[in-house]
Amino acid sequence: MAVRDEENDMTTAETVIADADLVGAKVRSKAGSRPLDNDFKTIGEVRVNDPRMSCTDVNVFYGDKHAIKHVDLDIAQNQVIAMIGPSGCGKSTFLRCLNRMNDTIDICNVTGEIRLDEVDIYDRKLDVVPLRAQVGMVFQKPNPFPKSIYENIAYGPRIHGLAASRAELDEVVERSLAKAGLWEEVKDRLDQPGTGLSGGQQQRLCIARTIAVDPEVILMDEPCSALDPIATAKVEELIDELRENYTIAIVTHSMQQAARVSQRTAYFHLGHLVEVGDTTQIFTNPRHKLTEDYITGRFG
Ligand SMILES: Nc1ncnc2c1ncn2[C@@H]1O[C@H](COP(=O)(O)OP(=O)(O)OP(=O)(O)O)[C@@H](O)[C@H]1O
Ligand SMILES: [Mg+2]
Repeated sequence: MAVRDEENDMTTAETVIADADLVGAKVRSKAGSRPLDNDFKTIGEVRVNDPRMSCTDVNVFYGDKHAIKHVDLDIAQNQVIAMIGPSGCGKSTFLRCLNRMNDTIDICNVTGEIRLDEVDIYDRKLDVVPLRAQVGMVFQKPNPFPKSIYENIAYGPRIHGLAASRAELDEVVERSLAKAGLWEEVKDRLDQPGTGLSGGQQQRLCIARTIAVDPEVILMDEPCSALDPIATAKVEELIDELRENYTIAIVTHSMQQAARVSQRTAYFHLGHLVEVGDTTQIFTNPRHKLTEDYITGRFG
């Protein structure tokens, strides 16, 4: 994560926009060069017919710093949505809003409304522990517990009371590891430490751990950035299979990855959701100049 200076960022963005006005005035739609002020409206359809999560006017502040600005976005059921944008634009911050992980940061303040199905997840009465099981998270760096492979998976179902007996727990462990494509590789070494697995296996272990508590949504923040191409391919295949049963939001710096795994893509810039649309449209026919510059490697 890069720490950025807001003023410098604004200057960069404004330069890009000014440039767009000059260079592309004839070919670009007016929408494509609209400035990113507080009245800026996201380009593309932010709502979907079958939302699993629905965000309305979400703002995030770290102290005085306005890190996410008036974001409206639906996350569609059984779809993968990719969140892309330059370092520091707010992807992780926005992702963390979706299961209230920002609550753990003292200076962080979230406003607006986020619903999971019909439930307002920022309702003061809501217990965040079950919420974080329903909306699970996989981090950039695989972070298995310093426990056995078996315990890494069994821990969540046990504390959430999802298995009544040892036999049931064994079943959850096997099923979760199988769904994460790891069972065959680890079934004979379940009592060995999770930290002894390779990086790619550890990441699939973390995915299995998330699945074990029966989530509805899985949030992934650059889940492959510490993995080699082979392990990355396995995790990407897995994401595609998981889509059948889960809703997934993934942050990635890899355009290829976003194109391969997602059906919808959201482009963030300086805390604004600039553009959202079908992944194919975003990558072949972006409507905002900033999106185009980013995906063609001219910026970011
Ligand atoms: N814990 C924090 N305290 C203060 N500011 C923060 C904190 N986390 C993020 N920020 C700031 O919020 C903005 C968005 O950061 P965020 O980490 O969400 O960006 P990102 O798009 O995920 O970047 P990267 O691609 O580098 O991971 C940045 O300006 C960052 O400096
Ligand atoms: Mg990040």
